[in-house]
Amino acid sequence: MNRWKMISVALALAAVGPAHAESVDERIAASQEAIQDFAGTLQGHLMEAMQQGGPTEAISVCQQVAPQIAEDISAETGWSVGRTSLKLRNPDNAPDEWERAVLEHFEARRAQGVPASELAYHETVQEGDEEVFRFMRAIPTGSVCLTCHGSEVDGDIQHALERLYPEDQATGYSEGDVRGAFTIIQRM
Ligand code: HEC
Repeated sequence: MNRWKMISVALALAAVGPAHAESVDERIAASQEAIQDFAGTLQGHLMEAMQQGGPTEAISVCQQVAPQIAEDISAETGWSVGRTSLKLRNPDNAPDEWERAVLEHFEARRAQGVPASELAYHETVQEGDEEVFRFMRAIPTGSVCLTCHGSEVDGDIQHALERLYPEDQATGYSEGDVRGAFTIIQRM
């Protein structure tokens, strides 16, 4: 084998190399990107439905489209991607123990005056036999959210919500509150 051929073989082997272990920073950045995608896509559908069919139409968007987007992004990334909250509308979004603790931590930070938009948390945790990387980012309550999550939800909307979510707890929010959080689990 001549010298150049040896070098190219060495380079090819280096490129194959051992599996590239992603750094924590890379995992955070990738999580933020997936959340951006989730939030942006959902916001687009929500605003369109609000403008075209009004809030009652938008309820079905939240009901059908939000879980679908979560499923699509989970399939695309191979992670588990979703939304959760301490006061749930859909019981399917219930937090596990780790998520509950993080949401409580967000509430405490919010009470200290930290804006909801700045609250995020990550940790590598042991789950059974495997280590997983977990990431959460708080979802701030914006003014548009109050139509369906505020203290004075209009009668028609309230009836539609009660019909779909008889155990709805997700009202009574004010602008700037932590409505919930995006939550991601990346297998290592
Ligand atoms: C048109 C009514 C409507 C508006 C406006 C709305 N939501 Fe919701 N929201 C819902 C419905 C319905 C669900 C339940 C979705 C489901 O079944 O997964 C929900 C669920 C959620 C959840 C998941 C946790 C839970 O309680 O189940 C979060 C987080 C959330 N909304 C945040 C927001 C934020 C932030 C805004 C403003 C940007 C907003 N919503 C605006 C109707 C609405």
